[in-house]
Amino acid sequence: MFDFKYFTPTKVIFGKNTESRVAELINEFGGTKVLIHYGGGSVVRSGLLKRVTDTLDAAGINYVTLGGAVPNPHLGLVYEGIELCKKENVDFLLAVGGGSAIDSAKAIGYGVANEGDVWDYYDYKRTVTGCLPLGVILTIAATGSEMSDSSVITKEEGLVKRGYSSDFGRPKFAIMNPELTMTLPDYQTACGCTDIMMHTMERYFTNGGNMEITDALAEGLLRTVKRNAVILRDDPKNYDARAEVMWAGSLAHNGLTGCGNDGGDWMTHKLEHELGGLYDVAHGAGLAAIWGSWARYVYKNCLPRFKKFAINVMDVEAKGTDEEIALKGIEAMEDFYRSINMPTNLRELGVKATEEDLVTMAHKCAVGVGGEMGSARLLREEDMLEIFKMSM
Ligand code: NZQ
Ligand code: ZN
Repeated sequence: MFDFKYFTPTKVIFGKNTESRVAELINEFGGTKVLIHYGGGSVVRSGLLKRVTDTLDAAGINYVTLGGAVPNPHLGLVYEGIELCKKENVDFLLAVGGGSAIDSAKAIGYGVANEGDVWDYYDYKRTVTGCLPLGVILTIAATGSEMSDSSVITKEEGLVKRGYSSDFGRPKFAIMNPELTMTLPDYQTACGCTDIMMHTMERYFTNGGNMEITDALAEGLLRTVKRNAVILRDDPKNYDARAEVMWAGSLAHNGLTGCGNDGGDWMTHKLEHELGGLYDVAHGAGLAAIWGSWARYVYKNCLPRFKKFAINVMDVEAKGTDEEIALKGIEAMEDFYRSINMPTNLRELGVKATEEDLVTMAHKCAVGVGGEMGSARLLREEDMLEIFKMSM
């Protein structure tokens, strides 16, 4: 068991109609001029944005709006947001949407609070010393960005997708109304469930230290999301299932399910970020498409965890050798992905990669992680290429 830091400063307001409290929360955290940042328009179509601006108008809080954060959000819009905030003297950011709007808002917050080019942080050249305060109204349960320290941005030039983590970027508050997720396309709901599970699985498949309580929380979270993802497939308006998944999304990525271990593996995410950068695929679907290949490549190096996962999460019978049990667990996870219409390889993801593409992605991935990374198994560029090939 390792020492750990657990820092979750985000105030969570969870439940029906909680978005009506947004003005009160902005006041509580000292916002006087707000940038409302959102995505491609779902919050306009659902009427949520109008309800938010009406609430701010009624409370006398000034704001400007900036939409257009795309899935795999772009650096160009971040620059635009930074300029807008400076011009309008914005002192508080409100992201209304999913991980893309939230991550884009975090990047804008870094750009306003720090001198120089904001991409430097995503390029690991500098670290931030602050961030504009940020609040969130969440519309999709997936990334956990509403409580996490990370932000993932894609630089259009070279299609470089990179994450940056800092406690300064953790939102001040997160409003989570599960009803707001009921307008999601089924595909995005399933992508979200996949991402949530992966955030805990990345922390679970390690070779570095574990705590019994952390494992119990992780396994309970994984079983809960697995069960409720299937409920939502058949009954997308099920409030309780929406709520279970939404809260799991935050807990899966606020650090809780990694306390006491070495920080986790994270290579499935790193490999997926290359797919997201190059092919603009939905993050959760990209994870599902790569996970099985990663798991088969690394499981022998992390056998006790794969066996435990198979038995405690995937309900595999504890019969046979450890390797047989581990492999059955991987197969069961892939069956689960298929059951919620997620891809289990690049073909099913709709990606037609050439050999050259795979080489490029493996190289960019290796550069992005500084040469090698992974706790379940340490991976280098040649290993990354092999996993991409296996996932074809
Ligand atoms: O853009 P709009 O029009 O809002 O539509 C979005 C988008 O098309 C739509 N959507 C969201 N809420 C909706 C809705 N449609 C109808 N009704 C609603 N209530 O769903 C699509 C996906 O939205 P997006 O915000 O892109 O999804 P997600 O939350 O999965 O975010 C993905 C991004 O987050 C990054 C990913 O790499 C990707 O760039 N990640 C961020 C992390 C973090 N900050 O901690 C960790 C993750 O591992 C991940 O890498
Ligand atoms: Zn993720």
